[in-house]
Amino acid sequence: MAKPKVIGVLTGGGDCPGLNAVIRAVSKTAINVYKMKVVGYLDGFDGLIENRWIPLDYDTVSGILTQGGTVLGTSNKANPFNHPVKRGGKTVYKDMSDRAIQNLRKVGASVLVCIGGDGTMRIADELADKGMPVVGVPKTIDNDLPGTDVTFGFDSAVCTAAEAIDKLHSTAQSHHRVMVVETMGRYAGWLALYSGLAGGGDVILIPEIPYSLDAICKTVLKRSRSGRRFSIVVVAEGAKPAGGDLTVKQVIDDSPDPIRLGGVGNLLGQQIEERTGIETRVTVLGHLQRGGTPTPYDRILASRYGEGAARLAAEGMSGLMVNMRGNDIGSIPIKEVAGSCRNVPPNSPIVRTARALGLCFGDEVKTKNQILAGTF
Ligand code: F6P
Repeated sequence: MAKPKVIGVLTGGGDCPGLNAVIRAVSKTAINVYKMKVVGYLDGFDGLIENRWIPLDYDTVSGILTQGGTVLGTSNKANPFNHPVKRGGKTVYKDMSDRAIQNLRKVGASVLVCIGGDGTMRIADELADKGMPVVGVPKTIDNDLPGTDVTFGFDSAVCTAAEAIDKLHSTAQSHHRVMVVETMGRYAGWLALYSGLAGGGDVILIPEIPYSLDAICKTVLKRSRSGRRFSIVVVAEGAKPAGGDLTVKQVIDDSPDPIRLGGVGNLLGQQIEERTGIETRVTVLGHLQRGGTPTPYDRILASRYGEGAARLAAEGMSGLMVNMRGNDIGSIPIKEVAGSCRNVPPNSPIVRTARALGLCFGDEVKTKNQILAGTF
């Protein structure tokens, strides 16, 4: 494959802190090291389909390292294989992938860097199968992409959620209340687990460990009787009761990932108050977790991912996603990543740590031997 002279870049899916840091790193590396040009497509794959792009020169990307969101705009609906088109007053969905590939060629780009989560990687993989060279960069506050130890955006979201839990602690204590905090995270519990542990939560409920209301209320009442008259319950939006269902907030039909979770916090808050008689309040952190400036950790991770992606693109590689293993930046075939979810292993060392500290996961209390053996 001929060495590329132009790199295309886009951000896909939900935004998160660190996207601009990746855009900046891809562009600066391409310009400084490989003497290449970079174009940025606007609003995710929509910009590629509609040929809307801006040049990403040195001046454009200077000063964006610390900015939240994405200067390119993004979309969690855009999909070149299923693009809405108006026909006689009706919306029909068309495969525009050939148009997308032509548009990339039109600007002289021979590779597209796709910064996104599993939906974006799925589309990137399909485009690669059609012969369009792509390089992926793993983004999401959910940290649920397989093939990498960590996605950028996760650390920033954990910081936001942990800070909120810290603040809820003092008011919970003053009023002797139960505070339920609902985090995002989709079908994985990483965000609830890390922010709950960092924020000193008392109960952490994650999708990977179905909960029992009895176990939660037992913990809350035990704390209350022993003089700790408040409790913090951190619940992932994807948590569900044993034998029960996910709480779905909305179904967005034209999104590649139509289910929007949410509402389990309110449900639980009501149940806990009814069952324990302790006044309970609910805070849903929502999109706050996706906003704001990236943490220093995410700025560095995003910069490393961006440099790695530009290197792969300059070397004419395709079908790879940059990843992090230990402290090393490497890459993995996008095909191995696309369409799957990385969950919290219920017996992982971090769950063991939390259990050893007395945290309740909403399941039956584990014995010391179970905790030591990791049999939960
Ligand atoms: O994947 C990131 C994420 O913020 C999830 O944690 C959440 O479930 C979803 O996106 C929310 O999507 P939307 O922005 O469409 O409400």
